[in-house]
Amino acid sequence: MTRFADFQSEIYQAGLAGSIPDLPLTAEGLERAAAKVMDPAVYAYVAGSAGTESTARANRAAFQKWEIVPRHLRGVAEPDLSVQLLGTTLPSPLLLAPIGALGAVRPNAELEVARAAAQLGVPMTLSTLSSSTMEEVAAELSQDRRSADGAGGASGIGWFQLYWPTDRELAQSLVQRAERSGFQTLVVTLDTWTLAWRPRDLANGYLPFQRGVGLANYLSDPVFRSRLPTPPEDDLAAAVRLWAEIFPNPDLRWSDLAWLRAQTSLPILLKGICHPDDARAAQDAGLDGLIVSNHGGRQIDGARAALDCLPEVVGASGGLPVLFDSGIRTGADVVKALALGARAVLVGRPYVYGLALAGTPGVLHALRCLLAELDLTVALSGHAGVASLGRDLLARRDTWDQSAS
Ligand code: FNR
Repeated sequence: MTRFADFQSEIYQAGLAGSIPDLPLTAEGLERAAAKVMDPAVYAYVAGSAGTESTARANRAAFQKWEIVPRHLRGVAEPDLSVQLLGTTLPSPLLLAPIGALGAVRPNAELEVARAAAQLGVPMTLSTLSSSTMEEVAAELSQDRRSADGAGGASGIGWFQLYWPTDRELAQSLVQRAERSGFQTLVVTLDTWTLAWRPRDLANGYLPFQRGVGLANYLSDPVFRSRLPTPPEDDLAAAVRLWAEIFPNPDLRWSDLAWLRAQTSLPILLKGICHPDDARAAQDAGLDGLIVSNHGGRQIDGARAALDCLPEVVGASGGLPVLFDSGIRTGADVVKALALGARAVLVGRPYVYGLALAGTPGVLHALRCLLAELDLTVALSGHAGVASLGRDLLARRDTWDQSAS
């Protein structure tokens, strides 16, 4: 059986033959290297967060408050990283978080990401704000990647993330297109009904969408197009203005979810849940799962670290699967989130840095590093699979020394 941890021996074998990896092996290293090659305004857009960025820092610091206490002599020869999620077996508890405007990083960015995701069986969550259309990305995900010897990955798995516009007919059209083109789950992001105060982007006067980047799903949508007097190909500025009008949606309410539920037979997850009462409301609304997230600290400066919100949300979830993102950088981070009750995690910025550095191989590299470290950490902690990770694996750091973070 191929294990994700085999990436480690692959690297050492290559070392014997005299070659060392071209790309950094840590998320921090990937970010540092990417910062050197990316357009500075685009790097700032990816790396930046809201306000003083205190929540982005808190997201990372929250992981340091938990320590793994390993167990030994428990027979962990074949660690099983697979998870059951929404009726599907995934090879690992890792998914790709939706990231908008990837086209600012690289042409055909989402297609490159889709290729990497499909090779590893890691589901890709496509943002509404993508630079290729959802149909193009779905087609890329469904390419048969079997190699000549019949080995290799099957089709990729796509999830679609919805930014719910004020125009109901447009929302309906986006959801129906996603379902028709083969996306398997709908993720509704609740925390970004408008963009937060982001000083790095403001200082650069840079917002990709204003330049038409990340709007492919709108510009290709028949309902969106029907609202324009001239096609976006002839007047992009007018299309961007319309997008800016229909994107902010401050008046959405829990009661609106019944309408959305009726539009699709796909499972619906809510992304951005931080409060246990919202987890309860999601159950009442008949939804299928939750994603604890604070958007990587990009929306509310001073919001609680996502990991600190996780246990209470899990406790209030009534058995709905709870996923997690915001701050995942290492295999140990994944282990901690799973031990605190997450069923799976979404990785965000690190794969964008891999993409910026090397396209599909860069995304593959970022994910393989994370998965290999996860595989090794699970086994070294005394667990034969992710299913048995639980709160008993962790201790709360007694005296939290912030200078150590
Ligand atoms: C995001 N995120 C995001 N989320 C979403 O639901 N739709 C989107 O279009 C985007 N776009 C986006 C762009 C960029 C540049 C970033 C960094 C993030 C949030 C994303 O899905 C996830 O919640 C965070 O990336 C998690 O934080 P970390 O782990 O990347 O710090």
